[in-house]
Amino acid sequence: MTTPTEDEPGTRPGTAGRAAPAKAWFARAMVWLWLAGLLTLAGAAADRAHPLVAMGVLLCAVLGTLCVRRDDRQVVQAPAPEPEPPQASRPPVEAPVAALVAALPEPALLLSPDGEILVANERVGLAIGAARVGDPLSFLVRVPEVLAAVRAAAQDGFPRRVEFAERVPLDRWLEAHVVPLHLYSAKGRDSGVRGAADAAARIPAPDAVLLTFRDLTQQRRVEQMRADFVANASHELRTPLASLSGFIETLLGPARNDAPARERFLTIMGAQARRMSRLIDDLLSLSRIELNAHVRPDTPVDLGGILSHVCDTLTPLANDRGVVIELTRETRPLVIRGDRDELIRLFENLVENALKYGVTGKRVAVDLACEAGPAGPVAVISIRDFGPGIAPEHLPRLTERFYRVDVAASRDHGGTGLGLAIVKHIVARHRGRLGVESTPGEGAKFTVRLDVFDEAAKNQISAKA
Ligand SMILES: Nc1ncnc2c1ncn2[C@@H]1O[C@H](COP(=O)(O)OP(=O)(O)OP(=O)(O)O)[C@@H](O)[C@H]1O
Ligand SMILES: [Mg+2]
Repeated sequence: MTTPTEDEPGTRPGTAGRAAPAKAWFARAMVWLWLAGLLTLAGAAADRAHPLVAMGVLLCAVLGTLCVRRDDRQVVQAPAPEPEPPQASRPPVEAPVAALVAALPEPALLLSPDGEILVANERVGLAIGAARVGDPLSFLVRVPEVLAAVRAAAQDGFPRRVEFAERVPLDRWLEAHVVPLHLYSAKGRDSGVRGAADAAARIPAPDAVLLTFRDLTQQRRVEQMRADFVANASHELRTPLASLSGFIETLLGPARNDAPARERFLTIMGAQARRMSRLIDDLLSLSRIELNAHVRPDTPVDLGGILSHVCDTLTPLANDRGVVIELTRETRPLVIRGDRDELIRLFENLVENALKYGVTGKRVAVDLACEAGPAGPVAVISIRDFGPGIAPEHLPRLTERFYRVDVAASRDHGGTGLGLAIVKHIVARHRGRLGVESTPGEGAKFTVRLDVFDEAAKNQISAKA
């Protein structure tokens, strides 16, 4: 690191300072001249010297003394200029330091102790704003807590952390780390324990401050989602539980001997108990799928067979609602690598939704086709209903846990709001893609794309080996 040079302008001795020793020497010479003059005068009195010589020496002494005094007066009248106060000289930031700041993975700024921007890495421009070297930090960051933390750290040498939220242009949470540095003084770096008064007194003030930012938005959202999930799950369980305990009290009290009421209440209690157990099943399967999300299932399964099975299973429900399920599939088997139970669950959820929410369309079309994809053939499965459809503002949130367009309608159907979340996770585990299209009033179409397991190609590879 560069150290500041010692002979800075202003700290150099002035001209008046250099003249002082010469003047002292001259004054001493005058004293000797006076003595010599007086001795010659004494010599003249004793007839040992000529009186003119004594007068000459004394005259020289008088003139010399006058010169010295005049010079002194001049010095008093024109005092030496005040030494300029030492200017805060800042050596340029060295290339390795600037390179380190540039290489930091987070937005980072190197600041002078008075908050001037010395170096800003590229990420500052992307995440915080356009930073210009030489500008004060307050031009870039307008959060008073961050500015105060930089000032305080530059004074007392202690690092700080500040969390703050921004509302414009987007809601986001950020964390600023303020670390005071001693880039130019080795003493500061090597000093021992801080905090002790004498040690603190020896430590020089920081000569730079490193300010880095961390985006906490994602973390905060996950925390929020977790909190919402627990609140939603307990709420979903609490409602049927409250209804069950209410019915139990009624059956033990006023309706104890009322046989028709007992019959009715027990039917409702049965439905509530099934809802609770379905919710627990859904939660468990969701966490199981999430747990295995990184393991891609690899058992070859025929999609045509799975879709036929799902449509057969749901035909009684469709008949109840007066809806017809139309299955169109290729005659040849379309084999993918997957988990049969999970795939049944996936298509059951989608066809059941189409039956429940698209009942007014009276028709649900299930299609299985194969199309060419960039990495080989892809199976495309679409489930389409002709009901009221879904408004566009709901589409991005449909696969969130417990998200329902119409909560009451979903509950009436015994829904938990976890169906599409499970669908999304199963598709992701199979490395597939899920798409939703809907035009309100014309129905909704859910499409799943899964890579076909090319048996013929596999056989060719194993034959070559
Ligand atoms: N085909 C559809 N037409 C209209 N709305 C739909 C359709 N499919 C889903 N939805 C809406 O999306 C919401 C979420 O669906 P999801 O399958 O996740 O939950 P659910 O059906 O309410 O409950 P569960 O599937 O656990 O029984 C539904 O409540 C419904 O409002
Ligand atoms: Mg559903």
